[in-house]
Amino acid sequence: MKPKQIILLASGSGSNVENIATYFKHDPNVTIAAVLTNKRDAKVLDRCNRLKINALYFNKHSFFDSDCVLNLLKSLKPDLIVLAGFLWKIPENLVKTYPNSIINIHPALLPKYGGKGMYGMNVHKAVKENRDTETGITIHYVNENYDEGAIIRQVKTIVLPEDSPVQIAEKVHQLEYEHFPKVIKHLLFPHGN
Ligand code: GAR
Repeated sequence: MKPKQIILLASGSGSNVENIATYFKHDPNVTIAAVLTNKRDAKVLDRCNRLKINALYFNKHSFFDSDCVLNLLKSLKPDLIVLAGFLWKIPENLVKTYPNSIINIHPALLPKYGGKGMYGMNVHKAVKENRDTETGITIHYVNENYDEGAIIRQVKTIVLPEDSPVQIAEKVHQLEYEHFPKVIKHLLFPHGN
C-alpha cells in the first residue's frame, strides 16, 4: 500500500508536530510529506531539522495573494492537511480544493473561545478569567470561518480553581499529545490498517 501523505502547518513551537511525527515514525503506511510554516524563525523549524523532516517557510503573499502554496500542496498530493498550532485563516482556494481534508486542533471546547485572536495562552487566560471548571481540545474540519468547521472530536479536562493559565495550557497540551495523532490515524484509516 502506498503510504498516506500528511502535510502539517504550524506557526510556533511545534510540539504537536514533533509528537505527531514521533507517533508515525515507525508506521510504514504514513509519511510526513512536509511541514509548512508562516514564521521564518518558528521553533518548529529547529524541530524539523532535528527530526529530518522536510520543512518550508512561506510568506503572506504566497499564501493569500497567489496560488504558490496551493500549487506546492498539490505537488505533494496530501491525503490530509493538519493545522497544528497554525494561526492564519485558511484562504478559500485551499478550503475549496481540499474539502474535508484539512483539520485543525483548537485548545478549548469550541464554540467557546474560538475566533480571531483566540489562540494559545489567550485561550487559557480567558478560561481562567471566566473561572470555567472544565476546558479541553477540539479537533475539527476547516472551513472558510475561523474555528467553525464540523467537529470531529472533543475531549475535556477539569480546571481546578488554583490552576494558573500555564497549568491549564499543560493539561490541554497533554490531551493534544494523547488524542491528536490517534484522530489523524483514524481519519487516514477509518476501517483500521
Ligand atoms: C496548541 O495548543 C494548539 O491547540 C494551539 O496552538 C498550540 C500550538 O502548540 N492552536 C491554536 O490556538 C489555534 N487557534 P505547539 O506549537 O507546541 O504544537
